[in-house]
Amino acid sequence: MDFFTSLETYLNHDQIELLKKSLNAKSKKGLFLNTFKMSKEEFIKLFPKIKQHPFVENGFIYDINDYDFNRHIFHEMGVYYLQEPSSMIVSSLLGKSQNQYKVLDLCSAPGGKLIQFALNNPQSTIIANDISFTRLQSVVENVERIGLDNVVISNNDFSKIYQKYHEYFDIVILDAPCSGSGMFRKNEEIRNDWNFNKVIRYSNIQKQLIDISHHMLKPGGKLIYSTCSFSFEENEEIVLYALNKYTDFKNIDIEIKDKFYQDYKTKLGFHMFPYLFDGEGQYVAILIKDGNLCFNNTNSHEMKYQDYIYKINHKIKIDDLNIIRYGVKYKKTIKNSKEVIYQYHYCHSLQMNNDFSLFPVIDLSMKQARTYVEGQNIDINHLTNVNNAKYILLTYQNIPLSFAKSANNQLKNIFPKYLKNKNYIF
Ligand SMILES: C[S@@+](CC[C@H](N)C(=O)[O-])C[C@H]1O[C@@H](n2cnc3c(N)ncnc32)[C@H](O)[C@@H]1O
Repeated sequence: MDFFTSLETYLNHDQIELLKKSLNAKSKKGLFLNTFKMSKEEFIKLFPKIKQHPFVENGFIYDINDYDFNRHIFHEMGVYYLQEPSSMIVSSLLGKSQNQYKVLDLCSAPGGKLIQFALNNPQSTIIANDISFTRLQSVVENVERIGLDNVVISNNDFSKIYQKYHEYFDIVILDAPCSGSGMFRKNEEIRNDWNFNKVIRYSNIQKQLIDISHHMLKPGGKLIYSTCSFSFEENEEIVLYALNKYTDFKNIDIEIKDKFYQDYKTKLGFHMFPYLFDGEGQYVAILIKDGNLCFNNTNSHEMKYQDYIYKINHKIKIDDLNIIRYGVKYKKTIKNSKEVIYQYHYCHSLQMNNDFSLFPVIDLSMKQARTYVEGQNIDINHLTNVNNAKYILLTYQNIPLSFAKSANNQLKNIFPKYLKNKNYIF
């Protein structure tokens, strides 16, 4: 069965024709602003051609001909996360709160849904899992740049350990692996590789992931289910499977805005179609498990692993996890010495923690910041507020850029080697 015929399960001829046409149009880009680092007003002032996302607070849409946000130094400084405009809608449905939710993002790489949720819910603690170790490297980089202190990154097949987390999580984000038809516009390879067997194969995997998610969800907890597939078998059918199998699951009605599409028969979740909204394909639904959510709040926690100290905003159960990153990579200790080496991740997390006052701060000019990220030292003869401090927090436009070490009237360059000389735009 070809792709468009397979959609006849829930779309009529006209809708399929509109979708066909829209798959040849150019994609728009999006980003989610980290307002711990820069306010919306400041951001719009600096990039006036950017457009506010119509459905996502702190979300923006832009034309690639206007800005190269990927290479901008603000990207490395974690001022925003580049995210496709439709996929950005998913986490926004979970809203903002100061609750201490315990959250599992079961399939988190490269981290889009996770980052938005973590910024919107800074008191929550999230286990960002993925089965692919390679793909998790980008989650580490993204969490580090954005400066999140509320994320544990793990590399597990939860089908082997889910029993250990019985009714543990307040929220499970299941952004499931899928046949990827929603990405046809962006990725020719996915388009050429599509076949209906793939849809069925993913549909079975998605059902298994629903089973383990249900087991791990607390009574009163929410499961947000999403895919970037257009296929009914990977979307509404999966939600129907969940509702039929688990009678304690209820569908949450989401307000269906103008540009969202809801299947009129099932009325479960909604689709984003490129012919209705200038983004890629996305499906999302939210289920809630019967019961009343009870919180068991925990304190912040530090952990030593090898020579490094890590810290997390609130303790979370990690006994059976293969941990890649535990909260903020804070500092390295040196055997038989009081000296510590502060880590790059820590400087980016200072704004989320409100810990700015712990270090002398030097706000660099554009020229100095450029010199620094190119890997050179900066002369500080004319600067006075450094005293004898070993570590200086360097900021650019009052946002942390890096630590530097002060010695011999110079700011010694300790910008990570792998980030130097990347031809950043300022
Ligand atoms: C759609 S992507 C996730 C995108 C991510 N949530 C985001 O917003 O950036 C699906 C991910 O599922 C992962 N995956 C596939 N099977 C999995 C499994 N059984 N358990 C956990 N992750 C899995 C893949 O490696 C892939 O990174």
